[in-house]
Amino acid sequence: MAVQDPVEKMLDAAQNGMSLLVDREKLHFTYMPDVIQHRDTEQEMVTQSLLPILKRSRPSNLLVYGKPGTGKTLVVRKVLSKIRVRVARTDFPIRLVYVNAKEETTTYGILVSFGHQLGLSERDLPPTGLSIAEVFRRALVAVGSGGINAVLVIDEIDYLVHLAARTKNDVLYQLTRANERLKAGSLALVGISNDLTFKERLDARVLSTLGEEEIVFTNYTVEQIRRILEDRIGGAFVSGAVTPPALNLCAAMAGSQHGDARRAIDLMRVAGEMAEREQSGTVTEGHIRAAAQKIEENKEVAALRSYPLHEKLLIVAIMRSGGSSTGEIYAAYKELARTLRQDALTQRRVTQMLSEIEVSGIITSRLVHQGMHGRTKKYKLAIPAEIIKSTFEGDLTLGDVV
Ligand SMILES: Nc1ncnc2c1ncn2[C@@H]1O[C@H](COP(=O)(O)OP(=O)(O)OP(=O)(O)O)[C@@H](O)[C@H]1O
Ligand SMILES: [Mg+2]
Repeated sequence: MAVQDPVEKMLDAAQNGMSLLVDREKLHFTYMPDVIQHRDTEQEMVTQSLLPILKRSRPSNLLVYGKPGTGKTLVVRKVLSKIRVRVARTDFPIRLVYVNAKEETTTYGILVSFGHQLGLSERDLPPTGLSIAEVFRRALVAVGSGGINAVLVIDEIDYLVHLAARTKNDVLYQLTRANERLKAGSLALVGISNDLTFKERLDARVLSTLGEEEIVFTNYTVEQIRRILEDRIGGAFVSGAVTPPALNLCAAMAGSQHGDARRAIDLMRVAGEMAEREQSGTVTEGHIRAAAQKIEENKEVAALRSYPLHEKLLIVAIMRSGGSSTGEIYAAYKELARTLRQDALTQRRVTQMLSEIEVSGIITSRLVHQGMHGRTKKYKLAIPAEIIKSTFEGDLTLGDVV
């Protein structure tokens, strides 16, 4: 038989080969499953809290908490979509608005998105050019003049608190006081956060208003994660594609952290893609392990890329000197800086940078006793040197030194 052209081989495989993933969309993080397993109580509590809106009165403000991947966004969005269906059948001016503070990235963006979802046009609320106070005023005028009963859901609200602290803008306080400024209509707030400490950073006045009600999402158990996975892979994969040991391992790996359903689903998706690429008929435990490693490496690569040049140089210096003291690393770093015609930073600054890089888990340190010379700190890489080499090889400045 003739040697097959590599391109033809791949195209053949895609057309007639074994396809394991039949509906990738079902594993995407925005996909909303019909049934949300193990979250009946939480769905009931969120619904209960929002029920007054259907009678055109203001619901209490609500804070929803829980670790990442515990279904907070999913549950709240599900409840919103169900209420919207009911509202559409009435002529009540009720608006349920969802914004994500992390995605919007600015206070301005959050308020503009809120205004647009209330029905204001781009002309009423341009994407730039107004002051935050003015955007806020226009959004409130829209609520008041339309007599609208509005619910504003702010997902990842901790980012808004960070933004507010940076810009010295007390938008959250303004939002919690909005009802006092409204002659008609009302505004209720729902905040969602996976940062359990963010409450401590809130202004006490904001906290007392925002936290009128609270719902805590507990971590999923391994068994619950397994059921959730089973549900999500039915439909996403061809039937029987995922072997039971692979399913169990995937649930155990995600469940052992803190019951993170997102991690479980990501792991299964990546494992499925790897199995498919290999033209394997099933997803095995090996694929799950390989997927976990790949996801971990992707995180490390992203972290490495995000460093400024001198941090990158330090990492290369450690890689080259292999398990060495701050002094030795500094010497190797100075040498690298000279090769690249960069001014070297001071040893003091470099020592500080080493501690910062250590926090990311890319390097580790240990204290070594050196007899009468006292103690010294030694650093070494905590990730394989190959990852650093392959990541920095493509870097225009660093390509030649790794
Ligand atoms: N009970 C469940 N049944 C099916 N899928 C679920 C369930 N819980 C979570 N998921 C899925 O897991 C992923 C993470 O869920 P979600 O986005 O709701 O987490 P979260 O609590 O908002 O996390 P974060 O705090 O990181 O935003 C999503 O893809 C979601 O569809
Ligand atoms: Mg979320």
